[in-house]
Order: sequence, then structure tokens, then C-alpha cells
Amino acid sequence: MNTMIIKPKSNLKGEIHPPGDKSISHRSAMIGSIAKDVTEITNFLNGEDCIATIKAFQKMGVKIEGTGTSSITVHGVGIDGLKEPDDVLGMGNSGTSMRLISGILAGQPFYSVMNGDSSLRSRPMKRVADPLRLMGAQIYGRKGDLAPLTIIGGNLKSIDYKTPVASAQIKSCILLAGLYADGETSVTEVAESRDHTERMLRSFGAEITSNGLIHKVKGHLELVGHQVNVPGDISSTAYFIVAGLLCPNSEIIIKNVGVNPTRTGIIDALKQMGANISIENLREESDEPVADIFVRSSQLKGCSFAGEIIVRMIDEIPVLVLAATQADGETIIRDAKELRVKESDRITTTVSEFRKIGAELDELEDGMIIAGGSRLKGGECESHGDHRMAMSLAIAGLISETGTTIHNIECINTSFPEFWEILSSISNS
Ligand code: S3P
Repeated sequence: MNTMIIKPKSNLKGEIHPPGDKSISHRSAMIGSIAKDVTEITNFLNGEDCIATIKAFQKMGVKIEGTGTSSITVHGVGIDGLKEPDDVLGMGNSGTSMRLISGILAGQPFYSVMNGDSSLRSRPMKRVADPLRLMGAQIYGRKGDLAPLTIIGGNLKSIDYKTPVASAQIKSCILLAGLYADGETSVTEVAESRDHTERMLRSFGAEITSNGLIHKVKGHLELVGHQVNVPGDISSTAYFIVAGLLCPNSEIIIKNVGVNPTRTGIIDALKQMGANISIENLREESDEPVADIFVRSSQLKGCSFAGEIIVRMIDEIPVLVLAATQADGETIIRDAKELRVKESDRITTTVSEFRKIGAELDELEDGMIIAGGSRLKGGECESHGDHRMAMSLAIAGLISETGTTIHNIECINTSFPEFWEILSSISNS
């Protein structure tokens, strides 16, 4: 159990190159594995979650070179080329791996078992098991739908499915299973979630269409591998955006960040709060919008957030809450009940940990009310094994009076192994 002490800082300065986007890295390894030909991936996120995805496909007979680096070569086996794994597929802490790969496994005429760590074993899988069962897969889990999950797939039929919550993981799971179904599978979302699967499937040659909230994919077509350059992860970037805004006299440039509009809720929210953020050099790379982000220290004001913007910044809410503690006036976050089923119950953990270091905020069933202008005195706090909590508490240390001591920080390696190195590079310059 590692602990880190973060001391107060001002004058953050420098240029950051964030690691590859986690969502896009997962999808490039998964789709590259079931495409024919070679997929070369650069700026792949070398974090534990994406490595779990790679290892799962290696166990199903896919040759993947470069594991543990950011340049990966996937020798795709084609749409029907996966082999039955002779061991359990370990998904670690990664909900994205388990939920998306369950869609691919549902299409395979073989037996497979997926397991994960204690956090993942408690996260809801019924949301993917239900539609996959409707398509014809046999899925067995602990207490019905919790991991370990066993899947016996094959012979899928297409469905028209309406997702019960706005979730890219549910949508992607069904679209990936749809690649193996007879006819056309359609998924209708309740609100627009990140669209990386649709973009990537299209670029690999799938027949996929999106019309508003309705997405359709045709089954039994061959996908073709190609070069993918993964944009920088906006979710990882968010910690440094908030650090640059809150630490006095700071100016940070963050290069090559994915700015897909289904992910930029955090920038829109912070700008609404008065943040000095500019997006420059906007371009398209590997079918995703990419830009450089400039951040300067800013005085923020409290705002209310609810509805569609929540889905577009779901992973960034703990660090948005930190920004809200320093704003003028109150911030209210609603419609964010999904936070309760992330790597931790992020409503409870955000409230309890920020309170420990001096913030004033209250829990709502589907969000939080955060008092602005809190003096964060600092102190001891706990990640609860949740990488996004650990990184938010580290940024809180920078603006606190005495610093934060964060316990259990190793979870940061799931999504952002270079976090500490980058943090010290902007605090020492
Ligand atoms: C992800 C989707 C989101 C997000 C997760 C990554 C993805 O989950 O919280 O970190 O890559 O599809 P939900 O789709 O369950 O909201």
C-alpha cells in the first residue's frame, strides 16, 4: 500500500504530453485483434487496464507485440479467428475491458470466463448480460450477473435494444456483439455517450451507421486492420487543467489531446465556471478530433450541472468537484447517479475524502452540492482503490495549506502510470 505526500505549489509551468486515451487504446487492441491484417498502434496507453485487454486477446490466440510499451503491433486473426482461452481472462480493475470484451465473447462459439479485482467483481454486469442473453449468448455470473462471468457464445441473432442508462460500455458491448449477429443490430441510447467504438469500427470497414441516438451495425463482415495513433487522454489531462486553473500564477500547455465532443464536457463545464482555457491547433487524427489546450490560473464561479453534459464528463467529476470547492458560490451536480457504480462509489468517496481535507460538500442521491471558497487545510486521505480519486486528491494537495497524504495510490497505474512524473515536471520548472 503506497502513500504519497503532495505539498502546496504555485507557478505551475510547462508543456505536457498526456498518455494515450484509455477508451481508444482499449478499442484499438480489441478491434485490431478481430480484424484481418496488422494494426499498428502508436501512443497506446501503457496502463494496467489496457494491458489487461491485450493479455485477454493474447490468451485467445492473437499475437500482440510491444506489450508494456506505447507502440503495439496487433496481428489480427480476422472476425472468426479467436481461439478458446484455456485459462480465466483477468480484467483487473477494468470495467471497459470486461464489458466490451463480453460483447466479443458472446459472438464466439466457445467457453470463456472473465474475472477481475474486488472492485470489478462488485460492479454491475447485468447491463451487458441482459442484451447479450437476448441475442442468444449464455452468460452465468455470481449472484446472476456479477463477475466472475462465464460466457458461452455463438449463433447470435440481432436485436433492437434501448439502453437503460447512458453508457458507452453498454452501447459498445452490443455493437461488438452485433458484428457476430445475423442481420442488423441496433442500439438506442438515452443520451449521447462517447462514440469511439462507432468511429473506430467505421475506420476498420464495419457497416455502421449513427442517426442521433440510434446506432446500427451489420453482422458477419470482415474488418481490416490499419495504423492507429491514439490521441492524448482528456480524462488524464483534466487533472492538469484543474491544477493550472487553481494554482496561482500558472500557465500550462497540454499537447495532442483528444477533444471528441462526446468527451469535452469537462472543458465546457470549466469554461462555464469562468476558466481561462483555450483550444488551439484543432485537427483530425485517426478519425478523432485532436487539439492543444492552453490553461491559465483563473477565478472560477459556482454553476449547476445536470443532463447531457454529465455523460460527457462522467470520469472527470471528482476533479470538477475540487475546482468547485475553490469557486465563488455554490456548485450543484445532478443526474450523476452512475458515479455510484464506478471504480468506487464516487459520490460517497468524493464527499468523504474532500471533507477530510477541509472542503464543504454534501451528498445527493444523484450528485453533490459543493460550497465554494473553501480553505482546504489538507491532511490524510484515501483513494479507496480508485485512480480518479487518488489523482484528484493529489491536485487538491497542491492548493491546500499543508498538503495531502494520500494512501493507496498504486491504483493510478491502471490509467496513468506517468502521472507523478508529469506532475513534478510542471511543479519544478
Ligand atoms: C468508458 C465509458 C464510461 C467511463 C469509463 C470508460 C468507455 O463508462 O466511465 O471510464 O471506454 O467506454 P460507462 O459507459 O459505463 O459510463
